[in-house]
Amino acid sequence: VNPHPQHIAIIMDGNGRWAEYHELPRIEGHRRGAEVSEDIINACIDRRVPYLTLYAFSEENWNRPSDEVEALMELLGLYLTSKRQKMIHEGIRFQTIGDVNRLSPFVREEVERTKELTQQGSNLTLTMALSYGSRQEIARAFQELIKRGVKNITPEILSQALDTRDLPDPDLLIRTSGEYRISNFLLWQLAYTELYFTETLWPDFNAYELDKALDAFSKRERRFGMTSEQLRELVG
Ligand code: FPP
Repeated sequence: VNPHPQHIAIIMDGNGRWAEYHELPRIEGHRRGAEVSEDIINACIDRRVPYLTLYAFSEENWNRPSDEVEALMELLGLYLTSKRQKMIHEGIRFQTIGDVNRLSPFVREEVERTKELTQQGSNLTLTMALSYGSRQEIARAFQELIKRGVKNITPEILSQALDTRDLPDPDLLIRTSGEYRISNFLLWQLAYTELYFTETLWPDFNAYELDKALDAFSKRERRFGMTSEQLRELVG
């Protein structure tokens, strides 16, 4: 039986379809999705999960219709403005991965302020992937290492050049809405992560669904390439 995961990463998918089923504009699905994110952040704090990483906006999402992109950016900015005090109060340390330089000045400013003001948080490290693409992140890391003149690039050195350098690798990845893909999210970091997929759309996800995922995780055998027997010897 596995202990609780230290790091959960989530691909929050299905906002658009949820809105469609309810005959609402897509942005209503995202708005509802943002509320669910808050519930799940709180649930992770309650369950003493120290790291949560949310895929809020991918590099590829820039290709969506411009009104949806603008609405999502506004939602993100407003979310940070309105939740910042609460984050500080709850001991949430906010950070981001991805190419934040592409974000609008308003959102970037809110991101930077929120990072600064929540740096002392020690209950949960909340990482939002914003304008994030894993291949782009890996390419940026290589460029950085080349610039620094690093010749002997090992997995450890590459890990330390990624946006996630301060995070442990995720133990559990959750993707909602019945899609079975990784979609350019944390490709390097997910090497030994347990994957959990659910049909539930993100706006319908909740703490009960999270507990189902945690329960499934607790029953998985994580071998990291070893045999079951070796593992038993390791834990004694
Ligand atoms: C996927 O649904 C979701 C996104 C592209 C954005 C995720 C953003 C949020 C949950 C809101 C912002 C979050 C916070 C915490 C402020 P989709 O639109 O791809 O759904 P579909 O596949 O049904 O169309």
